[in-house]
Amino acid sequence: MNDRIKVPRRSFLKTSLVASAALALGHASAQDKLQPVRLGMIGMGNRGGSLLGMLLEFPGVDIRAVCDLLPDRAQNAARRIEQHSGGLAEVYAGSELAWQKLLGRADLDAVIIATPWDWHSRMAVATMRAGKYPGVEVPAAVTLRECWDLVHASEQTGIPCMMLENVCYFQRVLTLLRMVREGAFGDVLHCEAGYQHDCRFLMLDAQGKLTWRGRWSANVNGNLYPTHAIGPVAQWMNINRGDRFVSLVSLSTPARGLKQYAVEKLGADHELARRDYAQGDINTTLLKTANGLTVTLYYNILSPRPYDLILRLQGDKGIYLDTNKSISLEKGGKSADQWEPFEPYQQKYPHPLWQALSADAAKSGGHEGAEYVMFHDFLKAVRNKAPAPQTVYDAATWSAIVPLSIESVAHHGKPVEFPDFTQGKWKKTMPLPVYGA
Ligand SMILES: NC(=O)c1ccc[n+]([C@@H]2O[C@H](COP(=O)([O-])OP(=O)(O)OC[C@H]3O[C@@H](n4cnc5c(N)ncnc54)[C@H](O)[C@@H]3O)[C@@H](O)[C@H]2O)c1
Repeated sequence: MNDRIKVPRRSFLKTSLVASAALALGHASAQDKLQPVRLGMIGMGNRGGSLLGMLLEFPGVDIRAVCDLLPDRAQNAARRIEQHSGGLAEVYAGSELAWQKLLGRADLDAVIIATPWDWHSRMAVATMRAGKYPGVEVPAAVTLRECWDLVHASEQTGIPCMMLENVCYFQRVLTLLRMVREGAFGDVLHCEAGYQHDCRFLMLDAQGKLTWRGRWSANVNGNLYPTHAIGPVAQWMNINRGDRFVSLVSLSTPARGLKQYAVEKLGADHELARRDYAQGDINTTLLKTANGLTVTLYYNILSPRPYDLILRLQGDKGIYLDTNKSISLEKGGKSADQWEPFEPYQQKYPHPLWQALSADAAKSGGHEGAEYVMFHDFLKAVRNKAPAPQTVYDAATWSAIVPLSIESVAHHGKPVEFPDFTQGKWKKTMPLPVYGA
């Protein structure tokens, strides 16, 4: 298949850089004058708590309602809001469906969802159907049906849905997007990325029981957390904007890490040390696009290992590799056979969003400031009632790797077709300009 959209790189880049710089630079002076964004938040655990801290720093954000299954978590969030700004957020808690009452409020513009994965899609769908803009944690859905539910709810209500994929906002990831747009790597052909992080400490709770993540690893085998890896890659490769994923195959190694961890933490006689676990320690998924590009994705959270997203970006003129934060580009016809440090390229190709926001982003922390830049985009989209750069089609596509990889692994690496969540619109949608424009 060769119906790839060809974009004249130079003129496209020029327009988009100017536009995004203007928008981004307008942020600091204009934000105070902008209308407040009235927020609700569902899920006030580790992630919800840290997102709350970040959102409290944004001028014009008014958090009016918080919800958690566990009342003390929601009450604690409300206390933090009061201490910070004097605002009195209403608390919804104590039942698995208390969030539905929060969505019934007439005074919310948007809702942040940071609950366990299996709640995301139904909460985001209900948020859109209640007329509010969801910002939903990753992955946005865990079954194909849920992916389609997101797409249909957004199309039917006209309300966008942004998955809060923060790795897309890392400074180097956006610098690389600009470099791709300027042709620094030539044509992108292959990427490799992974969520590789020893997360076994998140699998058992203090009472020696499996957490919700632990239950997933106990019962399911595939790539359960693909979006940090696929998000940047999909944007570099123009997925849903001139190209799309058409199929994948996925295989997992035997499961060792979680059982060994349970033995070490709970003793060999504990029931969690004696049982078997479904999730193979290392899952490898290979995706193909309509234009013939390929992606290798890893999911490796149950092994002793340092954090590494890999983020290998290979074009026909050069390569970037995040593992060693290095780059190698063909220059003047000379082959690229030596690694160079990436830092000078970050200076040479600054991304407009980061140029405008880096001082505030650096103060805010959160994955080196990436969350600050992400919320800047989310809040701007809510104010404009417009899709954020990460659309509902991206949320569905990136999340669909969860069920598709599970299916492929269950059938010994069988190729699985990738649904076209855009229903053909990918052929006519222009690539994202430089992110945030
Ligand atoms: N983007 C990132 O970098 C990043 C990092 C960490 C976690 N996350 C995502 O954030 C989400 C939450 O992860 P976490 O580590 O905070 O988990 P957590 O277990 O610490 O928090 C989840 C919270 O949701 C609450 N909850 C569960 N069911 C609920 C319901 N029906 N209604 C209301 N509240 C409910 C729980 O009581 C808990 O407080 C996950 O989807 C995870 O993938 C993203």
